[in-house]
Amino acid sequence: MEVVIAKDYKEMSKIAANIIRDQIQRKPNSVLGLATGGTPIGTYEELVRMHKEEGLDFAKITTFNLDEYLDIPDNHPERYLNFMKANLFDKVNVRPEAIHVPTNKRKGAEEFCAWYEDEIEKAGGVDLQLLGIGPDGHIAFNEPSSSLASRTRIKTLDESTIEANARFFDNDNAKVPKFAVTMGVGTVLEAKKLLLIANKKSKAAIVKAFIEGPVTSMVTASALQLHPNAIVVLDEDAASELQLKDYFKWVYKQKPDKYL
Ligand code: PGA
Repeated sequence: MEVVIAKDYKEMSKIAANIIRDQIQRKPNSVLGLATGGTPIGTYEELVRMHKEEGLDFAKITTFNLDEYLDIPDNHPERYLNFMKANLFDKVNVRPEAIHVPTNKRKGAEEFCAWYEDEIEKAGGVDLQLLGIGPDGHIAFNEPSSSLASRTRIKTLDESTIEANARFFDNDNAKVPKFAVTMGVGTVLEAKKLLLIANKKSKAAIVKAFIEGPVTSMVTASALQLHPNAIVVLDEDAASELQLKDYFKWVYKQKPDKYL
């Protein structure tokens, strides 16, 4: 696992966007796996800037989002499809028919999950998957105890996730959906490359756990240790508890092709 420590959120976002830009430039018809939440907003802002100012071209890109709340109203701003439109899709030239976000509808959700897996396969698999990490160590909505071999399915959200996401729902836990459709850990691990981003002191303990602790379904992000091509980009705060912090900085210093 490659760990890059950026000085702050802005630099973390820029590095992540640069990695995604390089992927798009290397393979213009890339399949991108995308994430929602507070963390990737700066990355999407930078990608939009690159599109507007540098002509970064999304015309041949296909996207698959990690997850979606179940039972959230179609027009709710926190529905992940709407979040993605507001932060990226409506601001770049990605083709609407190339966008895939899991269903928010309970009816037919199970069939949808199988279909989603098929669509990812038909697209040739995900080239680069962007990830955040939840306070309980989840990637996508793979809450603690999710099988590391899990596939796209319905998950019940952990109370800590509901608590963490209440900030997007008027700080009212009762308004946060309790279920989601999410890619499984096994689905995520099949992407050719993984890019996990995390910032803030509040993520420092879980960041240490998934990078330096054991591989365990109790911290599903720890499955990144099993992936041959995973990059983690952190800000100083999120990296602050890492035992190997200095080593990771030293390794990055030696790297000939830096991300900035
Ligand atoms: P956040 O969420 O980016 O809002 O912290 C991350 C996640 O839950 O995966």
